[in-house]
Amino acid sequence: MVNLKVKIGKMELKNPVMVASGTFGEEYGELIDINSLGAYVAKTITLEPRVGNPAPRIAETASGMLNSIGLENKGFEYFAKEKAPFLKKIRTAVVVSIAGDNASEFKELASRVSRLGYVDAIEVNLSCPNVKHGTRHGLIAQDEIATKDVIKAVKKASSVPVIAKLTPNVTDITKIALAAEDAGSDALLLVNTFFGMAVDIDTGKPRLGNITGGLSGPAIKPMVIKMVWETYKKVRIPVIGCGGIMDHKDAIEFMLCGARAIQVGTANFIYPEAALDIIDGIKRYMSEKKISDVRKLTGAIKL
Ligand SMILES: Cc1cc2nc3c(=O)[nH]c(=O)nc-3n(C[C@H](O)[C@H](O)[C@H](O)COP(=O)(O)O)c2cc1C
Repeated sequence: MVNLKVKIGKMELKNPVMVASGTFGEEYGELIDINSLGAYVAKTITLEPRVGNPAPRIAETASGMLNSIGLENKGFEYFAKEKAPFLKKIRTAVVVSIAGDNASEFKELASRVSRLGYVDAIEVNLSCPNVKHGTRHGLIAQDEIATKDVIKAVKKASSVPVIAKLTPNVTDITKIALAAEDAGSDALLLVNTFFGMAVDIDTGKPRLGNITGGLSGPAIKPMVIKMVWETYKKVRIPVIGCGGIMDHKDAIEFMLCGARAIQVGTANFIYPEAALDIIDGIKRYMSEKKISDVRKLTGAIKL
């Protein structure tokens, strides 16, 4: 028997494998046993409904995909009413991802989400335009002060652990990670998608309706692992790794470089069993290597 349990703040996970926000919905429950996951992470919600970006919103690229969904969602009220029956039935950790235009919107949403009663942690999607600080093209997680403001506000309003989800589109992610930690975040999630763009040379048009989008999948994995490793060395709170994890070997690589848990995103679109196969693969690896506790993998890279 191997121990797969890990803790993120006071949230207990039965194993370190979570699914990434926006890549895994309720419909997957017809295909796999959601209760076997370490955590179910819901798609990002905002206070009010958002229509999202123009189509096409997805484009396949070498070793990855571009998306420009634009945080389309039906808002908190709809979420609370329509998703409750599904989320309340889940017998593993439930994480809800939130976004907003400023700290007070994040605070209000965090307070409503934590009052739902069946949510184990709040994931703060900081990849939203940084409206307050006037950098229209910048994201909250590109700015240490904005990151601090939002995380402080969410922490004040939340009774469950708070996970700050960072963008990789920065010069030094450890500065933002430290700002989030300073503001009281219980964990860090590295990362959301990398800015990207692709063009159809026959039509001469961008392949995304929004022109630019976010790159995910195996193409980003080595860059994210480096960010996890550098962040792990500087912070005290747990780091969750996310970016291009397709199988258990990728997951273990992230853990050896400092991730306490991991999230699986793009792989879910390729095959729905990806996350469950990763859990089995981690167990097999641990048995083969005679590692009794998954927590021993975190940061165990041999230098
Ligand atoms: C189609 C699609 C939709 C996504 N929607 C969200 C979202 O709503 N909120 C969020 O925080 N991240 C979202 N993401 C980012 C993923 O959660 C994840 O951070 C990213 O894809 C990197 O992981 P991966 O390479 O395993 O896919 C989305 C990604 C994709 C591909």
